[in-house]
Amino acid sequence: MNIVDIINKKRKNIELNDEEIKYAIEGYVANKIKDYQMSALLMAICLNGMTDHETAVLTEVMYKSGDIINLDKIKSTKVDKHSTGGVGDKTTLILLPLVASCGVVAPKMSGRGLGFTGGTIDKLESIPGFNTKLDINDFMEQVNEIGVAIASQTGNLVPADKKIYALRDVTGTVESIPLIASSIMSKKLASGADTIVIDLKVGNGALMKDYESAKKLAETMVNIGKSHNRQVICVLTDMNQPLGCAIGNSLEVKESIDVLNNRGPKDITNLIIALATIMVSCGLGISFEEANKKVHDNLNNGNAYVKFLELVKKQGGRIEELDVAKNVVSIKSRLSGYINEIKTDDLGEISRKLGGGRYEKNDEINFGVGLVLSKKLGDYVMEDEEILKVYFDDKSVSVDEILKCFKIETNKINSNPLIYEVIK
Ligand code: URA
Repeated sequence: MNIVDIINKKRKNIELNDEEIKYAIEGYVANKIKDYQMSALLMAICLNGMTDHETAVLTEVMYKSGDIINLDKIKSTKVDKHSTGGVGDKTTLILLPLVASCGVVAPKMSGRGLGFTGGTIDKLESIPGFNTKLDINDFMEQVNEIGVAIASQTGNLVPADKKIYALRDVTGTVESIPLIASSIMSKKLASGADTIVIDLKVGNGALMKDYESAKKLAETMVNIGKSHNRQVICVLTDMNQPLGCAIGNSLEVKESIDVLNNRGPKDITNLIIALATIMVSCGLGISFEEANKKVHDNLNNGNAYVKFLELVKKQGGRIEELDVAKNVVSIKSRLSGYINEIKTDDLGEISRKLGGGRYEKNDEINFGVGLVLSKKLGDYVMEDEEILKVYFDDKSVSVDEILKCFKIETNKINSNPLIYEVIK
């Protein structure tokens, strides 16, 4: 067997057998297969897809590529949450402390930015001192002690995904159902949670642009979960505009603090409440009504924010030193009218261009840069009124490029619901 034959087979859209998938993934983890060969295979998968059987085998091989965490020492139901990624998606930073403050045990392995979407680990690392590299014993101890820990893929957890994820980020091979499903589910299976809630984003700021693809991805992940005895609940949510107003690492942490103090933007607050209700209901085995009350109570009484501060402190973060870029420019609309469309992925790309994301695997992120929207979909904007603020440092983007992301029209069109469907 050799990797070139496997690449050629996938390029010709012929189904790979189990041994070939195993050979490619194990060979890549063992550094026998080179980055450029894996990139070619990933691109062929992106273009030609995989059958359900190939995706299941890929997930299995990835999941078994490293350590498998046993969370049996944690006695209660472990509920994990994952997002397929979007622009301004800061839900983990808010949701995990919130559900932990309600008594749910919330261990979380998170990822870095991917393509035009940001990543929880990069966002957390914008807090000076925050340590995302916990070893597994410290991770478990922290979960037992304060109910929540957020770490990057600890130690040797799914090394196959760690390598492939970083490669996909810089080779244009992010948007693919089998690659996303295997990436997410291999990590979730290896990290030991009983119930997995997946916030599956759909729209022009998500990896899944259309509803049908999102649904297919949801069904793929639910089925992988079933075959491993895990409950997977996919919540299909809208991503046709950034979630909340802030895009960029430190800016998103600041906005998360606002949401935890119940003064954040409405859309993200509502999404957090919906996801938290599902997690609390599954985690504590209580009704939706009871869970929903607990979630509201803990947002209102400050317990969720206190838990966030506890999490940050425990992982060495100094929240008081959180900083955003010093240069701020206000971008004004050239037209009056309703904002009927936002090119969300382009806004994500603009944040990446400012230095908020990576183009090469080892690029350093500039945590303080990004965008903060003053207007959202359906809002009316006047000519010369601010549409967003740009936080920048040593890289710039043109005003035209930013304004092109907004479609402004005389008549308002209806926007999409925030939550489309729950698939389980
Ligand atoms: N999140 C992941 O962990 N992997 C993907 O491929 C996409 C989103």
